[in-house]
Amino acid sequence: MKYFIVLTVFALVALSGCSSGGNQNSEEDRFIEDLLSKMTLDEKIGQLNQHTSRWEMTGPAPKADNTQELFENIKAGKVGSMLNVIGAEATREAQKLAVENSRLGIPMIFGYDVIHGQKTMFPIPLAEAAAWDPELAKLSASIAAKEASAQGLHWTFGPMVDVGRDARWGRVMEGAGEDPYLASIISVARINGFQGDNLDDVATIAACAKHFAGYGFSEAGRDYNAVDLSRESLYNLVLPTFKASTEAGVATFMNAFNTIDGEPCTASDALMRDLLKGEWGFDGFVVSDWNSIGEMMEHGAAADLKESALRAIQGGCDMDMEALAYITHLQELVEEGKVDEKLIDDAVRRILRIKYRLGLFDDPYKYSDVEREKNSIYTEEHREASRKVARESIVLLKNDEAVLPISDKVKSIAVIGPLADDKDSPLGNWRAQAVANTAVSLLEGVEASVAPSVKVNYAKGCDLSIGKRTFPDFMTFNETDRSGFKAAVKAAKKSDLVLLAIGEDCFQSGEGRSQTDIGLRGLQKELFDAVYAVNKNIVVVLMNGRPLAIPDVAVKAQAIVEAWHGGTEAGHAIADVLFGRYNPSGKLPMTFPRNVGQVPIYYNYKSTGRPTAEQPGQALWSCYTDSPNTPLYPFGYGLSYTNFHYSDFKLDKSSMSVNDELMCSVTISNNGSVDGKEVVQLYIQDLAAKYARPVKELKGFEKIELAVGESKELHFSLTQKELGYYMPNGQYVVEPGKFKVFVGGNSVETQELEFEINPHYSSH
Ligand code: NOJ
Repeated sequence: MKYFIVLTVFALVALSGCSSGGNQNSEEDRFIEDLLSKMTLDEKIGQLNQHTSRWEMTGPAPKADNTQELFENIKAGKVGSMLNVIGAEATREAQKLAVENSRLGIPMIFGYDVIHGQKTMFPIPLAEAAAWDPELAKLSASIAAKEASAQGLHWTFGPMVDVGRDARWGRVMEGAGEDPYLASIISVARINGFQGDNLDDVATIAACAKHFAGYGFSEAGRDYNAVDLSRESLYNLVLPTFKASTEAGVATFMNAFNTIDGEPCTASDALMRDLLKGEWGFDGFVVSDWNSIGEMMEHGAAADLKESALRAIQGGCDMDMEALAYITHLQELVEEGKVDEKLIDDAVRRILRIKYRLGLFDDPYKYSDVEREKNSIYTEEHREASRKVARESIVLLKNDEAVLPISDKVKSIAVIGPLADDKDSPLGNWRAQAVANTAVSLLEGVEASVAPSVKVNYAKGCDLSIGKRTFPDFMTFNETDRSGFKAAVKAAKKSDLVLLAIGEDCFQSGEGRSQTDIGLRGLQKELFDAVYAVNKNIVVVLMNGRPLAIPDVAVKAQAIVEAWHGGTEAGHAIADVLFGRYNPSGKLPMTFPRNVGQVPIYYNYKSTGRPTAEQPGQALWSCYTDSPNTPLYPFGYGLSYTNFHYSDFKLDKSSMSVNDELMCSVTISNNGSVDGKEVVQLYIQDLAAKYARPVKELKGFEKIELAVGESKELHFSLTQKELGYYMPNGQYVVEPGKFKVFVGGNSVETQELEFEINPHYSSH
């Protein structure tokens, strides 16, 4: 087969990624080189050293309180960065130690996990991706940056750009779902939101694309587990979001806890030096994950911390988060001739560069402004933005007999469930500085929405967990206490409609929150059945951080509203949808399985040699004997209160050269009775490639708003950028032959057309 090798090559070859002394052209370079030339080796290594404060721990911390020693180290210029120091005053105090005491007065850079808001919480990132709206993702990140920077922070460890296909992995809540195209667009929007146009702007912070790379593919969905990934998947699924982040100018990267091919990512020169800093030309710095340098020993990839430090610095990891490996061993390694000081200079240069771009050398305290902190956090405007993002993140999964929006005829509503009046879970995991129990609950949202004549009957039904449920403690599900069932059944019996809020506590998903059971935990399913026995008119409001397997509820409920962990204003946003003030428009960024046995399940799978009729129990075909292959709800799926009709799907040619642009057009009409938004999705399939391609790959989407009766013609362009793929050797190719193009409102219900790339048109 003939290939057209085009665009870039991801091949992990030529050694590079260690910049020399900069081009000396810019003011920035001159400043950095001048400062570097004054630094002792000790001071240089200090810049590579990052410590957590003891105020907040986001990883397993040493038991001993080392605060005094830490202060001394800062004063000695041995700490280049801290994480988890928060607040204008606290950051100013900490910064003072470095700036006013160390020999060169180099300011520290303060980082924090600002994942979906600082104090005003936005929906968790997976939810936000369901809005399929980069402008909203940018908006929420920019507000998070405004609030975080007002609390003295310079840098967020976000966005997490890992593509995740495994709902057992709790960290899917932090990403933008299963698809590299959607996740790239959302990740870039988040980076633009955090960083703004200029890092020097006091209301912006440096972003961090994490976790480089493959962390979303930890085996069996178990966090931190080894990753066994084909090269083809690495290039086509994992790396695109990171490449897009680099192109968007992300300031920093974080490497990943996992190994790939047995090599810890923290030590991967192929990833960090050759690819990221070499081929992609990334000029920011890479921070390790929490003690990931130290964890190389646990991986069995380094004999001791000294070898870990050696491997990490050689690999291209510039900053050591919490392993104390660099500060303890780099000096020795340089003296022994094992580490070339040039590697250290390169890392220092990169870190100083980001500090310079943040404006910290002009004014190390500029982010630590108590007045700004007082006035620009948790404002009315930010909460209103959060409500807007939350309602656009909601996905309507089922709506039989148009039970939603709730009609005026409904005179009594039972609000039931362990999450119904939970003011905490909607804040989500990775909640930064959100104050516990400050979200608007579903009950509050409903009460604020109903007419005075409508009776709201609340009953919790049961607790989801017993005992402690705060991060980082694991929760214990309530499996026994049914004492609230009676009241719930009573409330359901006397009501026209039941709103049943079930799903996951927010601390069920997130880091270290892998689960083998992704159904409704505790007594929730029993509660559903008890309520269903007396009232079939049930609208399930799901609150969760990962796709859930809820096959039975999906059949029995009248309607299902996927509300995720929706942030500070969750209850109002859900009520906006339930009462029809907002017509739902979200679409799933991740496939919902029928059962955990199907996981990992995703829309862009490859066909097998024995693609099957969807009949369970047919032997000798690629199917399960006890479950359909198809998901419960596919990627891209989501209903509306109106109907969208797709017509006039056309391609402007049926045959073209590899250099041509194919234009696809389609008309969408709102045939229903309310105005609404639709996410129009474009997929392709390369029908016969040397390396089999997925049955569908998302290559374009547009979210449009249509008034009742309105139609719009949309145009999508397909070029080499969309039509090629990376071969396992990292070469990007566009192959001649037939392609399908699909358009539709989700990844399954699509219309399709064909065209071909004709080899005779080739200019190669
Ligand atoms: C570990 C997590 O993997 C990472 O995403 C986070 O940024 C760091 N801890 C710091 O809290």
